[in-house]
Amino acid sequence: AHFVPAASASSVLELDPCSAGTDPARFKVAVLGAAGGIGQPLALLLKSHPLIKELSLYDVVGTEGVGADLSHIDTDAVVTSHVGADSLSAALYGSHLVIIPAGVPRKPGMTRDDLFNINAGIVKTLAEGIAKFCPTAWVNIISNPVNSTVPIAAEVFKRAGTYDPRRLLGVTKLDVVRANAFVAQALGRPAADVSVPVVGGHAGITILPLLSQAQPRANLPAAQLQALTERIQDAGTEVVKAKAGKGSATLSMAYAAAKFAESCLSAMAGRAGVVECAYVESHLTDLAFFASQLRLGPDGVQDFLPLGVLSDLEASNFSKLKTELQSSIQKGIDFVQKGP
Ligand code: NAI
Repeated sequence: AHFVPAASASSVLELDPCSAGTDPARFKVAVLGAAGGIGQPLALLLKSHPLIKELSLYDVVGTEGVGADLSHIDTDAVVTSHVGADSLSAALYGSHLVIIPAGVPRKPGMTRDDLFNINAGIVKTLAEGIAKFCPTAWVNIISNPVNSTVPIAAEVFKRAGTYDPRRLLGVTKLDVVRANAFVAQALGRPAADVSVPVVGGHAGITILPLLSQAQPRANLPAAQLQALTERIQDAGTEVVKAKAGKGSATLSMAYAAAKFAESCLSAMAGRAGVVECAYVESHLTDLAFFASQLRLGPDGVQDFLPLGVLSDLEASNFSKLKTELQSSIQKGIDFVQKGP
């Protein structure tokens, strides 16, 4: 006799005539860099996601252990483990969403740009695999420097003829998560009630929190708004310093990436009104890639929400970030077009 769960997701759904017979778990999600500091807790969070049918874990080392461990959790996503370059095709084949936290993290004293030399090549290789084995998947890029690694992936996809800018998203959700947490503390409000858009890029001064558009309104003195802005911009470095050589943000990043993946999967599944901040190809400013609030639809980015009116502080910070962001974008493009 087979064990039949008392109320499996599908039996509950069959009570709803609108979705009778549909299986909610329909997506294959691949995590590349799955055995790492971010990859492991991210895979743990995704293992319980009802929309995920297969959780495909890929790394150059250590994937089997992570996969065996996660596969004992009593949720329905099937875990598959893939180790080494030869298994990249199997890891990616049929994926709907590919999340990339592969690469090296910062150590104290390093900027995200210092990671470029190693991570640029890793992201290029993985993007080439995606173009070959799952060219229509959505791609969430976490590997730093995001300001350059997203343009790198875009160039790879353009070369392969598979580029759809709607489906290539640099993950800046951690900046939003941090901004929400810090503003909630400052206002003494529950974090769940707070929402702060963060635009620009994902490194130092290119991170531009729009505190003037925080919900609920953050009526704080100018000096406190300035201090909050700087803390959000330097929050990654705060963690790098506290970990003292043992890496950068992993747990908060995994949380942010899982939330972001959930938004992507919900939009893919047809949920309307999904809005997230992400770093994508953009025409909102004169920068070719820019993070801003986006409405996601079944095919990826559907609309760009306007930047809105910036405060004087934000307008001044916006003009300061342009040169750095532009050069990071160009660095990524040149890496693919001209070679390392
Ligand atoms: P980690 O070193 O703990 O893990 C990275 C994993 O990538 C390792 O398991 C490693 O074996 C794997 N890897 C290396 N080369 C690979 C390849 N060619 N293919 C597949 N996997 C490969 O690093 P951690 O802490 O997980 O960070 C990963 C990346 O995420 C770093 O670049 C870091 O800067 C970035 N990051 C991004 C954030 C964001 O907000 N977007 C926040 C925090 C970190």
